[in-house]
Amino acid sequence: MFITFEGIDGSGKSTQARLLAEALRHDGHDVVLTREPGGSPGAEEIRRLVLEGDPDRWSAETEILLFTAARRDHLERTIQPALETGRVVISDRFADSTRMYQGMSRGDLRATVDQLHKLMIGREPDLTFIIDMDPEMGLARAKGRQGHEERFEDMGLEMQRRMRAGFLALAGEFRMRCHVIDGARSTDAVAANVLSMTRAALARPDYD
Ligand code: ADP
Ligand code: TYD
Repeated sequence: MFITFEGIDGSGKSTQARLLAEALRHDGHDVVLTREPGGSPGAEEIRRLVLEGDPDRWSAETEILLFTAARRDHLERTIQPALETGRVVISDRFADSTRMYQGMSRGDLRATVDQLHKLMIGREPDLTFIIDMDPEMGLARAKGRQGHEERFEDMGLEMQRRMRAGFLALAGEFRMRCHVIDGARSTDAVAANVLSMTRAALARPDYD
């Protein structure tokens, strides 16, 4: 099963992805925990290109190409081989992030994102958790971390508000795989919610 976490910066995706991986390993599953942009050596190199430097470093169109190139490498080298050997793959962000960040932050490029996705990726997750929360809380949490990867976080609160609305709309668009999770609760409460939904999905006959 291929599981992804999506949502605005600071919503708790990395924390929840890690906790879910630990809980599923405890249940006896073989789990690969990965992230985007990145998740393979080549994609981690592209990560540095897209996350560091000036916010205007790349146009939205160039970013679509860079994020999709990174994703293709991640899929070929990490995700597909793991799924083929029966492992559970958990990714902190995947294509829904490109649909949101590059698809709607600077004009409406969603159709371009979707076309390139169809051509080069062609795979959706089986299960997606969209961690929803107030953008001010998310931004405060994200800013609380140290680091150099701030190109997108520097885009500010208004952008985060649009991303939140976009992620909620996306959940409506991909109803079969997307679950909106209230991220404004304690870490443990969110993790329990995510784990019970994942166990239910893994128990369904079509995931045998
Ligand atoms: P994301 O990957 O979505 O950007 P993180 O998991 O890195 O989010 O969390 C951002 C910050 O908020 C981290 O410092 C993390 O420890 C903290 N955090 C995560 N979940 C919660 C929570 N439920 N309550 C309070 N703080 C949290
Ligand atoms: P990430 O490391 O997950 O940051 P955070 O933990 O703060 O959520 O992702 C870094 C940034 O990359 C984030 O602001 C969203 C952006 N991003 C895109 O713009 N497009 C994409 O396709 C992906 C995967 C990420």
